[in-house]
Amino acid sequence: MASIEGRATAEASPNIAFIKYWGKRDEKLILPQNSSLSMTLSSTTLKTTTSVVASNKINEDTFYINGKKLEMSDPEVRERLKAIGIMRELSGTTARVLAVSSNNFPSSSGLASSASGTAALVYALNAAFGLDLKPKELSMIARQGSGSACRSMMGGIVSWRKGSRNDGSDSYAVQEFSEKYWGEVIDLIAITSHEKKKIPSRAGMKQTVETNPFFTQRKTSAEKRLREVREAYRQKDLDALASLIMADSNEMHALMLSTVPSIRYLDSSSLKIMDAIEELNASEGGNIAGYTFDAGPNAHIITLKKYERKISSMLADIKGLEALEFKSSAQGSGPKLLTGVSLINEERLAPA
Ligand code: PMV
Repeated sequence: MASIEGRATAEASPNIAFIKYWGKRDEKLILPQNSSLSMTLSSTTLKTTTSVVASNKINEDTFYINGKKLEMSDPEVRERLKAIGIMRELSGTTARVLAVSSNNFPSSSGLASSASGTAALVYALNAAFGLDLKPKELSMIARQGSGSACRSMMGGIVSWRKGSRNDGSDSYAVQEFSEKYWGEVIDLIAITSHEKKKIPSRAGMKQTVETNPFFTQRKTSAEKRLREVREAYRQKDLDALASLIMADSNEMHALMLSTVPSIRYLDSSSLKIMDAIEELNASEGGNIAGYTFDAGPNAHIITLKKYERKISSMLADIKGLEALEFKSSAQGSGPKLLTGVSLINEERLAPA
């Protein structure tokens, strides 16, 4: 087999789902039960930067994140880093990988560091292994590390087509709208908790698919709502878009709640924010913002840049939300390679 010596650094951002993915039809290949759709966030606000070296001189795959070495014997870590093995095989080499990764946001804040982390890793490996794969193919590789990561492989508004084949060859990400199509749309993130997820999404999804009596209905309602979101976005109809986004978040969290045993990610702060956004929309006589929550209590408020100040000051006035912090993110343009930057100390082949 050919030997290789490749290096690259890439950055990628998390995404926030307007139509949620919650449930797999194949656990190993990470194939979803329904299609989903998200907005890629801006690297100015949230990003993971990852440097990799792929070399036959390295003895074993090693991964450092925010200065901490990951335990490769941990099955969860191995699953998350599946891309390394997949891309090594595609390259036709036996090169091992050293990867050093860093987030510009705390990974404990529930802001989807696994999506940006997996996307940055896959993008950097593509260059280091000299593979030259296109975003669609890269999304299929990222999908196998963390499902939602496949949507971070492109900028703007991105859908993840669920596909129907057993081998996953038709389950990939597609860019629906470029970040420039409706660039005023932002995600105002209201952070109220830094606690780690109570239940990892992998385990939570499995529990939902296996025990939830309403799951069959979810599969069709998500596909229908995805088509409606696409249309609302095409028409730049904020009122309709916000309403659909809130409905999908509520549907996913209701599903979680009705799973056995019940899964709850929202807390009292989340509910206060939901009330406040609904009151604001009512007082405006139409929706100017929609809340959405992933597997955690922090609110993502999808709105237009011009409403940001109004919404943040309104939320700051809510009693009992002491720990409130904001991060405002425009839409991002997807992963990119960085030249002349490395997080790796090349002489020691360790974190710089
Ligand atoms: O890809 P995972 O395992 O991190 O799952 C993410 C699931 C949600 O964030 C809750 C929804 C989504 O579609 O992003």
